[in-house]
Amino acid sequence: MAEIAVLGHGVVGSGVLEVLLSHKDSITSRAKEEITVKHILDIRDFPELPYREKFTKNFEDILNDESVRIVVEVMGGLDPAFSYVKACLEHGKSVVTSNKELVAEKGAELLSIAQKNNLNFLFEASVGGGIPIIRPISQCLAANEVNEIAGILNGTTNFILTKMLREHMDFDEALKLAQKLGYAERDPAADVEGDDACRKICILASLAFGTHVYPKSVHTRGISKITLADMGYAQAWGGVIKLIGEVRALDNGRIRIEVGPMFVSQESQLANVDDVFNGILVRGDITGDVVFYGKGAGKLPTASAVVADVIDCVKHFKARKYLFWEEGKDGYVEPYANSAEQEFVRAQAADSEEAFGKASQVFPGATRLIRKDAQPGEIGFLTPEIPVKEFANRLSRLEQDGVKVLNTIKVSDL
Ligand code: HSE
Repeated sequence: MAEIAVLGHGVVGSGVLEVLLSHKDSITSRAKEEITVKHILDIRDFPELPYREKFTKNFEDILNDESVRIVVEVMGGLDPAFSYVKACLEHGKSVVTSNKELVAEKGAELLSIAQKNNLNFLFEASVGGGIPIIRPISQCLAANEVNEIAGILNGTTNFILTKMLREHMDFDEALKLAQKLGYAERDPAADVEGDDACRKICILASLAFGTHVYPKSVHTRGISKITLADMGYAQAWGGVIKLIGEVRALDNGRIRIEVGPMFVSQESQLANVDDVFNGILVRGDITGDVVFYGKGAGKLPTASAVVADVIDCVKHFKARKYLFWEEGKDGYVEPYANSAEQEFVRAQAADSEEAFGKASQVFPGATRLIRKDAQPGEIGFLTPEIPVKEFANRLSRLEQDGVKVLNTIKVSDL
């Protein structure tokens, strides 16, 4: 019998208990051992639950219980999750986590401690909810050099953008619905401002390229400024707006990584990834494009990935999974300002013909887009590819010419 402990009985933690109980027989046969939850750590009381006697408020009860070989951390956040996970690994317990903040900030350090102690530190659920992506990148695609990973990595924002586009729901209404369905973070700003997607692309970049990429080194933009007008222009161009996390290997040995709303062509495999679903495209030098699709948020899909990692730990108790990356290094991430990109610009002036004339002077080669229901004086246009450093100067020139810039969105080549 394998005895485990679960840190946190929130959305994911209660899902893990539910999956372990509802699939007990099949899980036992796959793990080749019965898996029993011995302790659950939570500061709250759950007197109504049939497994209420397993709860403890004292982490030491778990740390000092030598019969517990695997600890599941599903508390979220860095404090106290980091000190608990570190202590577990130092006390000979393998750890399974769904905590993307923990892996994105402390992954290199925790993987190194796990390696020294010949233990597993597994985190399949930290990216893509129920979608297998950590194992495929680290194992199934291991013969490839990965050139690029691009994905819709946040279910909440994808849900919001889909509801806005298809049901003309306003932003707040769609966010409230996402929270009600249990997709959003405790602080939904982490979803909406792109921080959650940033953590996930950092984890995938660290894994694929072998060097830790910290969220603070990534250019991140959220979706809170996206309007139905922007969506109308994306449709006129032949695509949709998606919040994309993207990392590319550069010829100079660095990586380029960013998160932001982007125009994505209808031809792209990511364009039809809707609602709470995530889609992740991995471009390998041998395989070409491989796309992963599934539910990226929610209690049971995430719990399914956590339990799969627990089964793996039980099955391979004496064998470490090869999952490792080095500590980050200065200069590894190309400064965002060094890149060049094509941008969509939505702007407003007294007269739209005159405004586009000015836009064409500031951005020679600009292409105008026309949307239904445009307001008088409104324009939308695409710039040619332009260095990021130069783009801000040109926007200021446009404003000096009396054209007010309302929003800008990157046009992706995905
Ligand atoms: N809030 C996250 C999302 C949960 O919407 O994708 C899963 O990480």
